[in-house]
Amino acid sequence: MFFLIILNIAGLILCQNYRATIKLTATGLKFQPSNPIEQLGSISGIKSVLHCSAYCNKNVQCRTFGFDLLTLSCNLYEGYITTGSVVVSSPLSESSIVGGLVYESALFLNYNQTCSTAINRYLVCVGARLVCPVNTFWNGSICVNQFYGNTLCQLDIQCRGNLTLICSINSSTCVCNSTRYYWNGTLCALCTYLVCTTQLYLVENQDPTPWTSFSYSYSTFNTPVTLMLSFRNDIDYWYLDDVGVNKIGNTTNLIVNGGFETGDITGWDYTDPDGASYNGVATSADYYTGAYSYTGGESYAADFISQTFNVTIGAVYNVSYWLKVTGTDGGYSIANITIKP
Ligand SMILES: *[C@@H]1O[C@H](CO)[C@@H](O)[C@H](O)[C@H]1NC(C)=O
Ligand SMILES: *[C@@H]1O[C@H](CO)[C@@H](O)[C@H](O)[C@H]1NC(C)=O
Ligand SMILES: *[C@@H]1O[C@H](CO)[C@@H](O)[C@H](O)[C@H]1NC(C)=O
Ligand SMILES: *[C@@H]1O[C@H](CO)[C@@H](O)[C@H](O)[C@H]1NC(C)=O
Ligand SMILES: *[C@@H]1O[C@H](CO)[C@@H](O)[C@H](O)[C@H]1NC(C)=O
Ligand SMILES: *[C@@H]1O[C@H](CO)[C@@H](O)[C@H](O)[C@H]1NC(C)=O
Ligand SMILES: *[C@@H]1O[C@H](CO)[C@@H](O)[C@H](O)[C@H]1NC(C)=O
Ligand SMILES: *[C@@H]1O[C@H](CO)[C@@H](O)[C@H](O)[C@H]1NC(C)=O
Ligand SMILES: *[C@@H]1O[C@H](CO)[C@@H](O)[C@H](O)[C@H]1NC(C)=O
Ligand SMILES: *[C@@H]1O[C@H](CO)[C@@H](O)[C@H](O)[C@H]1NC(C)=O
Repeated sequence: MFFLIILNIAGLILCQNYRATIKLTATGLKFQPSNPIEQLGSISGIKSVLHCSAYCNKNVQCRTFGFDLLTLSCNLYEGYITTGSVVVSSPLSESSIVGGLVYESALFLNYNQTCSTAINRYLVCVGARLVCPVNTFWNGSICVNQFYGNTLCQLDIQCRGNLTLICSINSSTCVCNSTRYYWNGTLCALCTYLVCTTQLYLVENQDPTPWTSFSYSYSTFNTPVTLMLSFRNDIDYWYLDDVGVNKIGNTTNLIVNGGFETGDITGWDYTDPDGASYNGVATSADYYTGAYSYTGGESYAADFISQTFNVTIGAVYNVSYWLKVTGTDGGYSIANITIKP
């Protein structure tokens, strides 16, 4: 007897919470999700748009569907209709139509209630509580689709974890879980030297050249970023001065001790992987401004100085420095300057 009553109540709640309004578009249109991963499946042999909408309603992950009366195919998508685009179907099919479930806070009143007190088609039971379905997060009033790369965020849960996106504390945007990966617009792809490293300068056996200014515009998909400068000059010397990185329109230099005016390489990371001689040092023998510069005259192998700093993803930075070389005198020389997240 008691059981029946509970079922009855559950039944009532069930009815109340199956009420998402479905908005249908005009015919001749199809849904283009913002990411191909959102397509949950394609069902064939569906007789009507009503049947297709019922399939969507039955799937807790489905928020948008596309139906084609000619091919009788029904496509289900995770994205809300507003997160993707509704486009003219091509080849033009007058028989295709898109339906979007309209999600409003009234459908989510059971959020965070214990599973035993309510049943709700828009929520799932995890750890005895009703929470948002996979690939969505609670925004305070409804469950919304997790964000893709380069979107502003505060918490990891807001980023599409099943594409290995996390919320970077450094940039407050969704980024790939490591700087070995980058968001290519669709997924986190493995960085290649070509894609993720920008070669600012690479020259071998340069003739003597007086102080010369170099500057580059740089923008990236992840933070922090490392500026790496590497020199070798078997007989002569390279000189480097006034290294700067600043956001366009903001004069703050993100490089510490870019002019080597401390008289040493404070602020820089130094490595000499091949253990060659004549290591790079700060010097007063030559400089562009101030009283010091950095000189790289490592013999038979290159050494490296670098700095790592935070940038705003997508913002444009001016990377600049001054360089001088006294020649090669028949030896080998190389300057190799790169920047990468
Ligand atoms: C869910 O409910 C529990 C217990 O009432 C509460 O501690 C927790 O803060 C709630 N979480 C959210 C996201 O509302
Ligand atoms: C949650 O998302 C919906 C749909 O994007 C929006 O209308 C609503 O304002 C959001 N709620 C909060 C508290 O951010
Ligand atoms: C991510 O979610 C989508 C949609 O639910 C699913 O098709 C896909 O297999 C998931 N990927 C992983 C790696 O879990
Ligand atoms: C934030 O920056 C630090 C170094 O500055 C880095 O170690 C860390 O991985 C970054 N975190 C994220 C989530 O990007
Ligand atoms: C980071 O992402 C890569 C693929 O993008 C995945 O192989 C790896 O397991 C992820 N690591 C963590 C800690 O999530
Ligand atoms: C991202 O990489 C995947 C796998 O290599 C590829 O299929 C897709 O076209 C790429 N997306 C973009 C926008 O380049
Ligand atoms: C300039 O950049 C620095 C370092 O990122 C930052 O602290 C400062 O607020 C910025 N100034 C302006 C006016 O944006
Ligand atoms: C980048 O920013 C994060 C968070 O603000 C901080 O923890 C980290 O130390 C910074 N990294 C560098 C290299 O400044
Ligand atoms: C970049 O910095 C260099 C050196 O300070 C300067 O000459 C150049 O005009 C700057 N470029 C931009 C676009 O701000
Ligand atoms: C230039 O330096 C990068 C490290 O920043 C290194 O990976 C690359 O091999 C160097 N190129 C040459 C030609 O030495």
